Amino acid sequence: MRRIDRIVILTGAGISAESGLGTFRDEGGLWAQHRIEDVATPEAFARNPDCVHRFYNARRTQAAQAEPNPAHIALARLQSNFPGEVVLVTQNVDGLHEKAGAQPIHMHGQLSRALCASCDHRWDAPPEMHVGETCPACHAGSARPDIVWFGEMPYHMEQIVAALQTCDMFAAIGTSGQVYPAAGFVEEARMAGAETVELNLRDSDMSHAFQKHIVGPASKTVPLWVNRLLA
Ligand code: APR
Repeated sequence: MRRIDRIVILTGAGISAESGLGTFRDEGGLWAQHRIEDVATPEAFARNPDCVHRFYNARRTQAAQAEPNPAHIALARLQSNFPGEVVLVTQNVDGLHEKAGAQPIHMHGQLSRALCASCDHRWDAPPEMHVGETCPACHAGSARPDIVWFGEMPYHMEQIVAALQTCDMFAAIGTSGQVYPAAGFVEEARMAGAETVELNLRDSDMSHAFQKHIVGPASKTVPLWVNRLLA
């Protein structure tokens, strides 16, 4: 068995499901309630910024009230106590990894941050954002949620790919494997010769690419998985 010096973990909405935050593609999920093209594209924001702000204001409020569950807490424990490096990449924007004490890489942005569409300045978002919100740096009325929308480039990709190319283990937790580039991370890790494991309630679109599968709710499976890694 290869020594494990670096673990890369990718989390998706499923890890926050048991904290009460909806996922996107499960039964009744966010994309069943809202059309992506109405709330999660730059065109949507240009066409109807009020609708987009209202969508993210509701999610920002809900995320602020949510608590990390045992899965988030276990990953923070792994990151603190594992003798090697644990690179925690998240597609989630809810801030629950930080609340649990972990340091995630936010590849899809964060609900708690705002971005100026004119000068790229970033700052802590207020609880509610509204049309015409001004940028504290350039004062243009072009503030938007600091969320990576469909059609935009995810953040920190160079750092993420470098970690994938040198990791000994890759784990995907609570993600459907339907959105790239995150869905392709497992192939990158396999090419690096890493062990690959998927922790999910059910099969995902990328299950075929993983060597190991741990099926069940993250709040149960992740703490047990972390205990084994720290044993
Ligand atoms: N424990 C473990 N896995 C779970 C749980 C749970 N309690 N509940 C749901 N899941 C799994 C589902 O089986 C599914 O595979 O979580 C996954 C959720 O999939 P999605 O809703 O598609 O969420 P995600 O994969 O994070 O979406 C990726 O798509 O819409 C964009 O930017 C958005 O970051 C998001 C990206």
